[in-house]
Amino acid sequence: MKEPARLIRACAGQPVDRLPVWLMRQAGRYLPEYRKLRQGHDFLAMCERPELAVEVTLQPLRRFDLDAAIIFADILLLVRALGADLAYEEGAGPRISGLPAPQEISFPSAARVTEALSFVAETVRRVRAELATDKAVIGFAGAPFTVLSYLLEGGPSTDFAQTKALMNQDADTFSRLLSGLAEMTVAYLALQVRAGADVVQLFDSWVGALAPSDFSAFVAPVLTALISRLKALGVPVIYFAPQTAGYLDQVAATGPDVVSVDWRVSLAEVRRQGIRICQGNLDPAVLRDGPRSRIDHEVRRILAEWGGRTGLIFNLGHGVDRRTPVHHINWLIDAVHRGPR
Ligand code: CP3
Repeated sequence: MKEPARLIRACAGQPVDRLPVWLMRQAGRYLPEYRKLRQGHDFLAMCERPELAVEVTLQPLRRFDLDAAIIFADILLLVRALGADLAYEEGAGPRISGLPAPQEISFPSAARVTEALSFVAETVRRVRAELATDKAVIGFAGAPFTVLSYLLEGGPSTDFAQTKALMNQDADTFSRLLSGLAEMTVAYLALQVRAGADVVQLFDSWVGALAPSDFSAFVAPVLTALISRLKALGVPVIYFAPQTAGYLDQVAATGPDVVSVDWRVSLAEVRRQGIRICQGNLDPAVLRDGPRSRIDHEVRRILAEWGGRTGLIFNLGHGVDRRTPVHHINWLIDAVHRGPR
């Protein structure tokens, strides 16, 4: 039997020969080879065509000594299985349209989800076949609250006015929609795991917009049930929950193997909250701006704040900024490999 990849060992709190490191949004526009391929295709077409998605998934691994590949896709692909229209507008971000009123939204069967997203499974299969076994393949999906916020707002938002209005005024519908999305997410991630994903990550980019009491009343029950079903697929679950420093204990209590935190909280505090396995948490602006001495310093600070050899997966606190110079990533990975000295 082969040893599990370093990243998978770290997810279980097992000792590793060196810290695993990968970067959210490691595939994308900061890479010239991504921009070149992207010139000829729109973003959705790149996700839908496995030969292109595989290529883009592997691009960062050809350049950098990363411990994992994250499948090239998007958290919003799921909404198309709901019958919504999805478009990515240059500069404006994603736009979702064509959905009925929240009270009228109905959910597809697991079979329909699997069929609508089968191209993602094909990408996972090919990536897993091409990569060495010491590299983990990360499957992912949006967490229910974040996906619901996009459905209700129709795109990015700063105040989540539509989302909060539904939560405040029609809690039954709000909860029904979260549960429906969770159900779809189980089908979607089960598909990715069957295709060879070694670990799955739930992205809850906007959950930090909620009061602790609303996280606890509305989101936590759905998330706890979802995470327990994902763990039953036999892979570790990473939960990315930025801007939740005020209720990390509740985040941890939803049961993921790994909590992924942003830079607004120190890893010493994360430890104090009882989190034993964590992913994070360099500010992407440090990676973007440098200089090298600053990147080195911040990596050492983070390792010192965690203060242990196990249970840390090094990452950013959010995605790689598109303005990041490529060579800064080599500096970062070197610093992580050198360790706390
Ligand atoms: O490298 C990777 O991390 C894998 C692929 C990946 C993408 N999106 C590709 C992408 C992942 C894991 C995501 C997650 C995602 N998508 C999140 C959660 C993480 C986060 O950033 O908070 C969210 C909120 C989305 C929704 C989304 N997709 C937005 C807001 C945008 C537009 C803004 C932007 O950064 O361009 C996208 C488009 C998108 N998803 C791109 C990529 C590479 C850019 C597409 C392009 O124009 O080339």
